[in-house]
Amino acid sequence: MLKERSLIGKTPENIGKKVKLYGWVHIRRDHGKLIFIDLRDATGIIQTVFIPSNKEAHEVASTLRSEWIVEFEGQINERPEKLKNDAIPTGGIEMLVEKVTVLNESKTTPFEISTETEVGEETRLKYRYLDLRREKMKKNIRLRHNVTKFFRDWFSNDGFLEIETPMMTKGTPEGSREFIIPSRLHNGKFYVLPQSPQQFKQLLMVAGMEKYFQVARCFRDEDQRGDRQPEFTQIDLEMSFGDEGDVMDLIEKSVIDMTTKLFPDKKIQKNPFPKISHKESMEKYGNDKPDLRENKEDPNELAFAWVVDFPMFEYSETDKKLGASHHPFTHPKDEDIGLLDKEPEKVKAKAYDLILNGYEIGGGSIRIHKADLQNKVFQTLGLSEKDIQERFGHILEAFSYGTPPHGGFAFGFDRLIMILAGEPNIREVIPFPKTGDAKDLMMNAPSEVPEEQLKELGIQLKKQ
Ligand code: AMO
Repeated sequence: MLKERSLIGKTPENIGKKVKLYGWVHIRRDHGKLIFIDLRDATGIIQTVFIPSNKEAHEVASTLRSEWIVEFEGQINERPEKLKNDAIPTGGIEMLVEKVTVLNESKTTPFEISTETEVGEETRLKYRYLDLRREKMKKNIRLRHNVTKFFRDWFSNDGFLEIETPMMTKGTPEGSREFIIPSRLHNGKFYVLPQSPQQFKQLLMVAGMEKYFQVARCFRDEDQRGDRQPEFTQIDLEMSFGDEGDVMDLIEKSVIDMTTKLFPDKKIQKNPFPKISHKESMEKYGNDKPDLRENKEDPNELAFAWVVDFPMFEYSETDKKLGASHHPFTHPKDEDIGLLDKEPEKVKAKAYDLILNGYEIGGGSIRIHKADLQNKVFQTLGLSEKDIQERFGHILEAFSYGTPPHGGFAFGFDRLIMILAGEPNIREVIPFPKTGDAKDLMMNAPSEVPEEQLKELGIQLKKQ
């Protein structure tokens, strides 16, 4: 059946021809004896007309309701000049329908698909499959696809290999709580969902891959905000033999190419991107991701900048313990290595964040590639020899087999897309996001699991 199908987006090329269209009834309008139906598929919307002289089709058309699935056969005609609508690609044409088949009916939807009227977010998320039918969400999903594809091609063309890394693994510290998966075959033990592919991508450098990237799903159990989800996407990459300048130049070039090609209306405020030290940013703006736009009202202004010279460690506000500002695999500045023992708070890191319009849209660093320095940093963080071996023995061992100097970066992809799409939060650019309290309202997750399943996992719940 698909062989004969025409896509609505292509109908302007078919004037005078008979075609078959499949799609959803967008709106039905009865004008005296004429019935107009806007028909929608994934590629567009077209106006169709039913005339009373075609009794059979006209009768069926009079029963059609919004969101029913139909098959229309008929001729694509040019509209009379004064009825043309330049605002949409199919505004110059219409279909005179000769035959109509109803493929499926629809209940009345909880909100209108054909209008952009405000709908409460809970309802939108519960019926996300309907929300995604609306033009605004479709546009965001398409935009997201285009940017993903651009980066996939761009990094592939530069010799990067796209490599998948495991989701069921061991914890890797990125500074947040982790989601854990209980093991059935090893009761009492747990896999951890990765906060990022950090350790695997470094191990891929040990493996001699030299250039890796991935559209990577990351998991962090942290308090939700407009720019945070428990499950989010990074465009993650790593390369061997480069220094900070090499990684930053590469990222900057990829972002500028992407913006120029896909968003010609947007203006990059400063090219090359300015670099601000962490210290200057804190002193001047009171934070490490300042909004450097000249005109915050201008939806097309993109103020990218690098924040550099981060402190390697910071004291946690809650327990005053020393922690890694980025992650413990970050290389200290060479001239500061001697300070690790006595004044760790003074050590600066070979780390960089990319900021855009007041958001941190990515970060990375040059990594430690020698076991002794890595061990030293773990010790500085207060880890015991036993802890180090248990948590990081594998990576220390790997570093002892000829590990090249390496470094990398990860885009917070949802944040980048949010800004490019001009949306106020990342839920608008994620097809199936979680709510502010980390629930999936459509699937009703998290939810209880059968007692039997818990038993197999060796888990007994405490009575609430
Ligand atoms: P980092 O932890 O800085 O670095 O993460 C990189 C980028 O990911 C985005 N991000 C998030 N986006 C949505 N929801 C979240 N919960 C969330 N947390 C982080 C941010 C951030 O800049 N492995 C390192 C990268 C590296 O060193 O190469 C890492 O994950 O935009």
